[in-house]
Parts: sequence; structure tokens; C-alpha cells
Amino acid sequence: MIYTVTFNPAVDYVVRAEKIISGEVNRSDSEEIYFGGKGINVSLVLAQLGIKSCALGFVAGFTGCAIEQGVLDAGVETEFVHLEKGFSRINVKLKSEQETEINGQGPDIGEEALAQLYEKLDRLKSGDTLVLAGSVPKALPSDIYESILARLSGKGVRFVVDASGQLLMNVLKYRPFLIKPNDKELSEMFGVKLTDTEQIAEYAEKLREMGAQNVLVSMAGDGALLVDENGSVRRCGVCKGTVRNSVGAGDSMVAGFVAGADKGYDYALRLGTACGGATAFSDGLAQRKDIDRLLEELK
Ligand SMILES: Nc1ncnc2c1ncn2[C@@H]1O[C@H](COP(=O)(O)OP(=O)(O)OP(=O)(O)O)[C@@H](O)[C@H]1O
Ligand SMILES: [Mg+2]
Repeated sequence: MIYTVTFNPAVDYVVRAEKIISGEVNRSDSEEIYFGGKGINVSLVLAQLGIKSCALGFVAGFTGCAIEQGVLDAGVETEFVHLEKGFSRINVKLKSEQETEINGQGPDIGEEALAQLYEKLDRLKSGDTLVLAGSVPKALPSDIYESILARLSGKGVRFVVDASGQLLMNVLKYRPFLIKPNDKELSEMFGVKLTDTEQIAEYAEKLREMGAQNVLVSMAGDGALLVDENGSVRRCGVCKGTVRNSVGAGDSMVAGFVAGADKGYDYALRLGTACGGATAFSDGLAQRKDIDRLLEELK
């Protein structure tokens, strides 16, 4: 089973209006609701690919219930810890002449709730995959990724970590199966300006030497580069299409790569690219029919 962790899931409330004037009453032209958070995004794209996964993390209040139901309806299993106080956050995305976002904070997560998450994680067994994605909310210890991997290390669980900075550096010693920084995150981690793919490959290789098995560096509209577990460098360009909203493209790429990994790294890279593209070319996350079409085009 593939488990994804989303510490701070969200309801994304997307409002479109031709004009939004601050300080006045505005009317929207359309509204959409998405359930998100990076781990959940990975689970939702896996579901599109017909792969079962289980979403872990914390939910609270009526928004938490809605997120849980939405994720279940999409064909993802859930084992969220339910917090007694507060409510899962709502992120307001105003799309007008300009794009304005107000991201909520999310509920407090106490020690007891954290212990409940650990209990669930302790049930993972050899052959399972654990996807940790995104930043750590203020309500949690900043070394939580490391603590989780330390706890599960040696059990034969495949770790996938999509994070950046020290958060990522600190888990490399647990030999994650896959890490997926984007080129900007890779630059920041080493404090260097990376200008060409040769340099990017060089620094990706450094992360591999530090412990990661496969290092996938995504470069948005410039495609992606993989340094695989044998140190071979593979590249993949992007799919053709019109970009609508590339948020979550990275999470989609992680889902595609994980889904395709058993069929070889070239295929995994292509499936990841098709999933990233399908998300970038749509308003929400990648849909199966688009993924299939884009994958076909990448052949
Ligand atoms: N503009 C684009 N055109 C085509 N494909 C894209 C575009 N943006 C993203 N993709 C696809 O998605 C992959 C991942 O995108 P990106 O590098 O933006 O991830 P990211 O920065 O981690 O995104 P996020 O963290 O918001 O999910 C890219 O390697 C590419 O295959
Ligand atoms: Mg990302």
C-alpha cells in the first residue's frame, strides 16, 4: 500500500471575477472547490492512475469532514487523525486581473494527536511506500520528517520525500527511494545558481551520494532530470499544451513516478512528466484521459 501524509490539508476555494476591488463588495463569476495539500494531491493522482493509496494526516472541524469525504469519493482510502478543536484550513484563491491568495493556518496539533499519527505509521510494513510531501506546519516539531523516517527505518518501507532545504537534507541518511526537489529548491539547498542541466545533474548526484536512491529534479516548463540509483542521468522534456495552473504539477509528477517505477525508470520519468503536464494544463489536478493522451505523445 502507498501511504501519503498531509499534515495540514486544505479546502482550496477558488473564486474567479473579472474585477476585484479591495474594500468593496465584489461578485464572483464562478467558484470552485478543491481538496488539497501535497500528500493528498499525490493520492488523488494515484487514484486517477488506478492505484490505491491511503491518505494520512490531521483533519478538524466541518472542513476536515469535507476533505475526508472528498478524498474518499475520489477513490482514496483515508486514516486521518481527527483533531477535537479547530478546523482544517481554507485557502482562498482570488483569480482576477491579478491572482491573490490567502492561505489559512490550520488547527493546532497536540502531542496526543501526533502520537496517534505515529501509531498509524507504525502499522506500515515491508513493501509499503510512504510519501512525505510539503513543508511542516508550525504546529509540529520541525524535525518531524526525520523522526518519522528514523522510526520506520529498517522496516523495508520505501520512502518518498518531496521537500526542500534542511528538511530534505536531514532525511537523506535514511536512503529515501525518491526525492523530488525542483531546480530552484536544489539551487537553494547548495547556495549556488544552477544555470544548465549539466550543473543540475552534478548537484542532483551530490544528493544521491548523500543517501537518496533516485533524485528527480523537476524544472517546470523545462522538463525534468533524473539521476537514478545507478548514477545514470536521464532527461525528459515537457508535454505540449497550454498552461492553466501548474500548482501541484510537482506532486503529480511524484505520483506518476511512483506509479511507474516498477516498469523501469525511463517509463516512470515519462509517466511522471505526463502527470505533471496534465495538471499544468488543467485547472485542478491531472485527469486520467489527459494523462493517457500526454503519455502517448511522449513515446
Ligand atoms: N509549464 C509547463 N509546461 C509543461 N509541463 C509542465 C509545466 N510546468 C510543470 N510541468 C510538468 O510538471 C513537472 C513538475 O513541475 P514543477 O517543476 O513545476 O514542479 P514543482 O515546482 O515541484 O511544483 P509544485 O510544488 O507546485 O507541485 C515538470 O517537470 C513538467 O513535466
Ligand atoms: Mg514541489
